[in-house]
Amino acid sequence: AKRKSILDLNKKYLACEPLSMCTAYDYITASWAQKSNCDMILIGDSLAMTSLGYKSTTDLPFDEFKYHVKSVCRAEGSSLVVADMPFGSYETSHEVAISNALQLLKLDSNVASLKIEVGMHTKDKYTINLVKEMCSRGIPIMGHIGLTPQRSHSLGGFRVQGNKSYKEIKELLETALVLQDAGCWALVLECIPQKVAGYITSKLNIPTIGIGAGTQTSGQVLVMSDMLGMLPGGVPKFVKQYSSIHRVASDSISKYIDEVESGKFPSNDTHTFKIKNEIWEEFI
Ligand code: KIV
Repeated sequence: AKRKSILDLNKKYLACEPLSMCTAYDYITASWAQKSNCDMILIGDSLAMTSLGYKSTTDLPFDEFKYHVKSVCRAEGSSLVVADMPFGSYETSHEVAISNALQLLKLDSNVASLKIEVGMHTKDKYTINLVKEMCSRGIPIMGHIGLTPQRSHSLGGFRVQGNKSYKEIKELLETALVLQDAGCWALVLECIPQKVAGYITSKLNIPTIGIGAGTQTSGQVLVMSDMLGMLPGGVPKFVKQYSSIHRVASDSISKYIDEVESGKFPSNDTHTFKIKNEIWEEFI
């Protein structure tokens, strides 16, 4: 299938058709998303926790992330692939950040865009100017505002953003507008009250992709391990679980172990290779 381009997705946005995005972490999960014809696959740094068992996205080494980017890109299909800029890959200087961005884009020509978490424009001039620099060099950037997990310590934890005061809502809206001006082609809005996310969306002319941001954004993104129940334990309030892969998988493996122990697997008839009697008898 022909890969969707940023232009294709923009046409869909202009036609007011909702955009779909989900995360993927490796060849298998990317193949599922590609088979389902998701508009966009995000190689999110959430893979640090969902795939690699780190405690935080900030623990993710850049080299390990690159390995996952290559793996996701090997899955064939039409989804546009977006890769995160992980924590530590862009904060040192614009020069280092641009060099790391180019490394990600050069891993595979299927990486169509990068995504960067950005703080409020009043406090995070550095990242906003970086986005501007990158976009002016032709690097497609999806901004990410609201709850930005890489900054969870500064934000006081994993909490809804843009719900405390008039000033906070205004800052969030201004940040979205500044990022649009900086050249972002889309914005992720994470954990923002529905009304605020809807208002921001209505003031932009680029698509917004919401996660925990209600029904009024131009599209939705979910973390695959949350939506498919790939890990034990709870998921955030805004997640809808469409499956419980962790339970299905561990129940299936337990059944396999029982059958190995009881001698039910492998079955003599279906899972074994036979040899012609005359050859066997010649040997024996
Ligand atoms: O890393 C990630 O999975 C993300 C999504 C939550 C948008 O940034």
